[in-house]
Formats: sequence, C-alpha cells, structure tokens
Amino acid sequence: MISPPDAGSTDAPNRSAAWLGDGGKNGFIARHHLRQMGLSGKQFDGRPVIGIANTWSELTPCNAHLRTLAEAVRRGIQQAGGVALEFPMLSLGEPFMRPSSMFYRNMAAMELEETVRANPLDAVVALTGCDKTTPAALMGLASVDLPAIMLTGGPMLNGRFRGRSVGSGTDIWRMTEALRAGEIDQAEFSEFESALNRSAGHCMTMGTASTMASLTEVLGMQLPGAAALPAVDSRRLVLAEDTGARAVELAREGLRPSAIMTRAAFENAVVANAAIGGSTNAVLHLLAIAGRVGVPLTPDDIDHIGRRIPLLVDLMPSGRFLMEEFAYAGGVPGLLTRLGPHLNLHAVTVTGRSLRESMEAGRVDDDNVIRRWDDPVQPAGAGIAVLRGNLAPDGAVIKTSAAEPRLLRHVGPALVFDSFEEYSAVTDDPALDVTRDTVLVVRNCGPRGYPGMPEIGNLPLPKVLLDQGIRDMVRLSDARMSGTAYGACVLHIAPEAAVGGPLALVRTGDLISLDVPARTLGLQVTDEELAERRSTWRAPQAPPLRGWSRLYADHVLQADRGADFDFLVGASGDAPERAAF
Ligand code: FES
Repeated sequence: MISPPDAGSTDAPNRSAAWLGDGGKNGFIARHHLRQMGLSGKQFDGRPVIGIANTWSELTPCNAHLRTLAEAVRRGIQQAGGVALEFPMLSLGEPFMRPSSMFYRNMAAMELEETVRANPLDAVVALTGCDKTTPAALMGLASVDLPAIMLTGGPMLNGRFRGRSVGSGTDIWRMTEALRAGEIDQAEFSEFESALNRSAGHCMTMGTASTMASLTEVLGMQLPGAAALPAVDSRRLVLAEDTGARAVELAREGLRPSAIMTRAAFENAVVANAAIGGSTNAVLHLLAIAGRVGVPLTPDDIDHIGRRIPLLVDLMPSGRFLMEEFAYAGGVPGLLTRLGPHLNLHAVTVTGRSLRESMEAGRVDDDNVIRRWDDPVQPAGAGIAVLRGNLAPDGAVIKTSAAEPRLLRHVGPALVFDSFEEYSAVTDDPALDVTRDTVLVVRNCGPRGYPGMPEIGNLPLPKVLLDQGIRDMVRLSDARMSGTAYGACVLHIAPEAAVGGPLALVRTGDLISLDVPARTLGLQVTDEELAERRSTWRAPQAPPLRGWSRLYADHVLQADRGADFDFLVGASGDAPERAAF
C-alpha cells in the first residue's frame, strides 16, 4: 500500500513511516485522519512530512503575519516533494504577557519539543519573531534534535516621526523620559505612538528579537539573509519558499540541529553578538540553547570571546540606524565578510554547507551601517561584559556600549529597594535622597523573585535627577532589561536576591564599586558584617502552591545557567517513549 519514497531520498524509511506506513490498524488511524483534512493517498506515500511550527498569534502582534509566511513555506515544501502539516506553537508576545514573556520561554520550548517528538514528522520549520519565540524554538528543536530549520519573521519597517527614523523601545524610553522631564507634551507623545510601528514584523532596533534572529543565522539555523530582511519585503516570501524546500532536503539528508549548533557555531554567535551590539538577553538564551545540545558555554566564555570584537553594526540602541538599513547594507552575510578571520568558518549551517560559503556570498553595500574593522562604532571591548565580585559570585552582565562612559568605573552609595513596585512608588518623589553618584539597587526581580526576570533592569531615573539634566546612573538588579534599552545597568546578578544571593544583603548607604574594565562588582562591606546580615535574612516570599508557577519556582536555574529548567537541560532525541498503542 505504501509506495517507495521519491527519487532522491535515502533508502531508510522516513520517521513518519512509523505512523503512516503501517499496514494495520495504527496506520489506518493515522492516515484516515489525514484524509479527514482532504489529503489524498498520494500525500502519505512515503514522502517526507514537514511540520510548520507557527507562533502566529494576535496576542503576539510581531508574529501576526506568520500565517502568510507559512503559506509560502508550504509551497516550498510541496514543490520539493514533501507534505506540510502546520501546527501552533505557544506564542510569546512581549508586549502583553504577565509577569513576563520570559516566564513562559521554557514552557514554549518544552511544548515544541514534545509536540515534535509525539507526531509523524520528518523535519520541522519553526516560524518565530517576537523576542522569546526564537530562543524557545531553538531550545525545543535542540532537545528533540529532529532535522529543523528556523525562519524568523523579519523586522518592521523603520518608524518615522516628524521627519526622522524612530526605533522600537529605544525611542520609547527616550520619549518617556522626555515626557517626564517636561520636554514634550502628551499630544506629541501620542503622535509618536501612532508613528512607531507601521508595518508587520518584530522590533526593528537591535533589540532581543533582531539579535536572536541574527544569531540564529550565524548559528547556522536559518538561511543566509533571513534575519534582517524586512517582514513585508516580498523577498521574505521567497526565502520562506526556499526554507520549506530546504526542510524537505534536511529530512532526506538527516542533518540535525546537534550537527549545526556546535561549540564552533556558538563561538561564532558570540562574536557576532559583540559586533552587532546585541541584547543582554542573548547571554541567557545562548547559555540555555547551548545547554540543550550539550555544548559547554559559560558567561565568562561570552565575555572572553566577545571582548576582542569591536561594535561594527551601527544600530540602535548602541548606534544610529535600524534593521532596514542593516538589511540594505548587506545584513548578516555582509557582516560575516567583516568578521571572517574571527569566525569558525568550517561550521556547518542548515544549508548543508559551511559558514565560509555564506560569507563568500555576502557583500557590504554601506560602510556607514556595517562599519569596517578599522572604523568601528565602538572599539573592541565595548560589548557585553561579565562582572564578578562579592556582590555577584556567579556573575552579572552590563552592556558597556549602552552606558555613559563616566559610569564604567564608579563607586557610590547604594539606595536599596526590595521590589520594583517599592521603587516605582517613589520614582517621582522630589524628596528622594538620591544624587548622580547614587547606585540604585532594586532586588527580588530574578528568575525566582519575580518569575521570569522581568525587563525592568533599565530602571527609570528618579525625576529629581531628570530635572537636573542627568540621563544615566548606575543601576543594579537581578532582573533583565529590554534589548532596546540603554544605560549603566548591571543585570542578571547571580545568585539572585530571592534565593539569598549577596544582593539580598545590601543596605542603603553601603558603598558599591563597579569597574567594568576590570570586570568587577563589589560591595564594600566586611565578610563578618555580611555573615551577620545573612544570619537574619529570610526569603521574601513563600513558594507558589501550584501550576506553572510552582514548576517554575522548583526548577528554574539561575541566570548563569540561562534560566533554563534543571530537568530540561540536555536532549532526549526524537523517539517517543512508547512507539505503539
Ligand atoms: Fe515583539 Fe519587540 S515587542 S519583538
């Protein structure tokens, strides 16, 4: 009843044949339900079945165009002789989800992993876009390790406001501060709101979505050029067709994520992250993805590898331009031509060829956007720095390029808040006892303390300082910050305060020393005094009783392990636990 596989396929039966190729009851059940959708018998004659994991959702506006993209992927799959079966993947919308989209990243990764393993698929195309959807898909695909290819949805067109380009997040923070400082009025603020997001796509600054899209391409998990092309550019539909067609070939070749996402590929991603001025969130995501494929990668690796790379891509929030300009300047393939000697060019990509071949096809068309090595936006060492010291024994991060240089070496007295809400209540208080030298500390915002580590690490400046014209100060937290944000913000402090990390012991008035060039973060309090404070410390909150919150609190790892779950680290492969029923 089952015809031989198509010409060009390998001799081994497809994985899906274990479901669809059975001549008895089990095969009947699987096939007749495909017929229910109007598929003819030709659709399950042994040809590869390709899943399209789609994070389309109107609750994730950045991904709301992915249905259109999925249809183009489907065309590509069918043209290449495969069968396309689209399914929803848990979508994580950055603008709406509470307490934070990051709280659900591991859930989405687990859901994708289990869905793929449980079903008759030979390869997967994952369509993602908004911040956490991309790392979630990479994590899930790494753990199931079935042949897979990513396609991120592309950035929005540039925002345009009163004659200039405006960028996601970055200009929101700027305009919000300007409104609070009385520099603009509510009418201008509202007009700006309507001018910022004017097309489909994800945030078009080099925030987390653009960073992870770019790194997905450098990791080798999506086709060359796919990261930067605007969401609405019709060439993205062509890329989608090519992606679908390539998925069919991947199913036949058996090229798996574990053969692509190697140590060499992660080193390349770290190099690229430094060159693009990528989001601090990328540190967490790269650590978590590497953990899934068993590649040893530490925060210190990210610092050491990235430190020798200058900032070459002149994009907000660290620079001037937006993803549209990056795409037209050459995108990731163009950037690779500038990074070549610093990359592991032998790394295999999802194309089945080496990164060297992606690089050789690249070209830079605008040196202002993708700068030359001898004319960088910022010199080497201006990217993400990993700090250590008695305040962060397991590390903390700061995006050097996003901070005012005068603050990179700083000693100042702490002003401590036990929660973001506590700080928010006094942010605009004219009597707040704060100066430009104060080190603002907000704690209990880490993976456990505020589930999912919300993006509040770029704490709004106290109004009393804004009124003095001050636009940056040292801020410390165990939280994250948006990849579109800027400021001298020390983030991801580990261990977090909620589990008793040293951050929990800081008191207002303690001196804190930050030395980014030396990579240190210190609390100038004696060990004896800290031990005394620790003896009276109590966890700030009882663990949640049930549901995802309980699972999360019981199993989430600290920031230095990518905030993955302890039981999700590693891979289980594509074989279901039981094969028959
Ligand atoms: Fe979706 Fe920024 S809100 S990418």
